[in-house]
Order: sequence, then structure tokens, then C-alpha cells
Amino acid sequence: MPSTLPRGENLHVAVIMDGNGRWATRRGLPRPAGHRAGVAALRRIIAAAPALGIATLSVFAFSGDNWQRPAAEVDALMWLMRAYLRAATKELVEAGVRLCVIGRRDRMPGPLIDEIARGEAATAGGDRLHLRIALDYSSREAIACAAVRCATSLPPSLDLVGRLIADSLADDSTVGEVDLLIRTGGEKRLSDFLLWECAYAELWFSDVMWPDFDAEALRGAIADFHRRERRFGGLPPGALALGAAE
Ligand code: IPE
Ligand code: IPE
Ligand code: MG
Repeated sequence: MPSTLPRGENLHVAVIMDGNGRWATRRGLPRPAGHRAGVAALRRIIAAAPALGIATLSVFAFSGDNWQRPAAEVDALMWLMRAYLRAATKELVEAGVRLCVIGRRDRMPGPLIDEIARGEAATAGGDRLHLRIALDYSSREAIACAAVRCATSLPPSLDLVGRLIADSLADDSTVGEVDLLIRTGGEKRLSDFLLWECAYAELWFSDVMWPDFDAEALRGAIADFHRRERRFGGLPPGALALGAAE
């Protein structure tokens, strides 16, 4: 039985979609077959997200460090991402999804860069889900770039520097910090994804390989998120009342 969930939330959920390679290897398949199955999982998750109160979905598809992989795997990934964008743009528009790709654009193949620009332009009017796909993305590099940008504006206070960096990292002003970070594939690390934005994210790790992740698994993660008590360095409301009475 699916659990019932509170509605009307504007959650920012980030996902490190890990485990494609192992999923394929365990089936005696080449690693790119796992990446292909991973794309299918992504499509399922995008379709399920709005009904679960997710307003912004940031997914890690290719890291700056993934260039170290064998050329054949990198090529397969670049080809797959281009094919995905070309095939999915129509369904994204119909579903009201606004696509933004975050990360570097100068190292990817030209046809993929063009496809990204087409996808972003075609989906610009989407208002049900803001989908951020991280491609050739490194959080440390993004923070360093943001710091360089704000160093030129002679900020008068530490607080302002923090705000300028946060604004510079977000692709637009509607993107807030991450509420929930999901990582599949069994590893418990961030691998250079959204380090600044995850400062107070709830973390949820799953041993499920990404190609096997589905809407029900996402629902489970969100249900668990709603049972967490977020304190942001303060005290829970009950403790505050108790302290005041003492
Ligand atoms: C995640 O799956 C996708 C990318 C990093 C591009 P992996 O390819 O890292 O899969 P595993 O971790 O080797 O199983
Ligand atoms: C993180 O997974 C990057 C993506 C999911 C795109 P990796 O498989 O590259 O991370 P590590 O190497 O296990 O830290
Ligand atoms: Mg991996």
C-alpha cells in the first residue's frame, strides 16, 4: 500500500544516480546497457516527482571526474544524453517540466551542447517541475567560479558574500537549498555534488542500483524525509517552550 504523504510542499530533491555500471555487470551486460536502463529510471522519477511535492529535482548525470572513465564509456554516455534530450523534450513539455542543465558546457560534444540549448528553450515555460540535470558538473568548481564572480564586486560583509555565492550557484532565483539528497548504489558519499546547497539537506542512501529505482522507492524516501525533524542548528519547538519555562 503506498503511504500517504503531506501535499503542497515545494521540495528540492537532489539525486546521485549511482549504480548503473554494477547493475549491468551483474547481468553480464556491458556498462552502457546500465546507463541506458538508468535513463529509463530517470524518466520514471521525473514523472513521479510533482505528485510527491517535489518542485525542484536536481540529478547528477555526469561528474567532472567522470571524464577519467574509458573513452568508450564516456562516448556512450554523451550519445545517450543527447538521445535522451532529443526523445524526451516533447514529454517534458507536455508534463510541464522546465529543464536546466548545470555544469560546464565547454568540454561536451557540440551536438550535445546544441541539444541542451534546444531542450532548455523548448521547456522554458514548464511550471510543474524544475528539472536540473548536472552534466560535466563539479560542485567545488562551481563554488570556486561563484567566488571569483563575487570577488569582483567588493562585498562589504561575510553575509553578503554568502548570499552572492548562493545566488551565483543557483541557475535562477527560485532554486533553494536541497531538502533531501538521495544516493542510490550503496555508496555513502557526495562525490562533489551540490556541496554548498546540501548544507542542511537530509541524506537518504539506498543500496538499490539506480536502474532499479522507481516511483515507489522515491515515495519511500520522501515519506522518510517527512518523518525527520529539521532543526537548522536551532532547537525543536517543544524544547524551546521548556527552556523558556525554566
Ligand atoms: C552512475 O553509475 C552514472 C555515472 C557516473 C555516469 P556508475 O556508472 O557510476 O555505476 P557504478 O557505480 O560503476 O555501478
Ligand atoms: C557520482 O558517481 C557521479 C554520478 C552519479 C554522475 P560516481 O560513480 O562517479 O562516484 P564515485 O566515483 O563512486 O565517488
Ligand atoms: Mg558509480
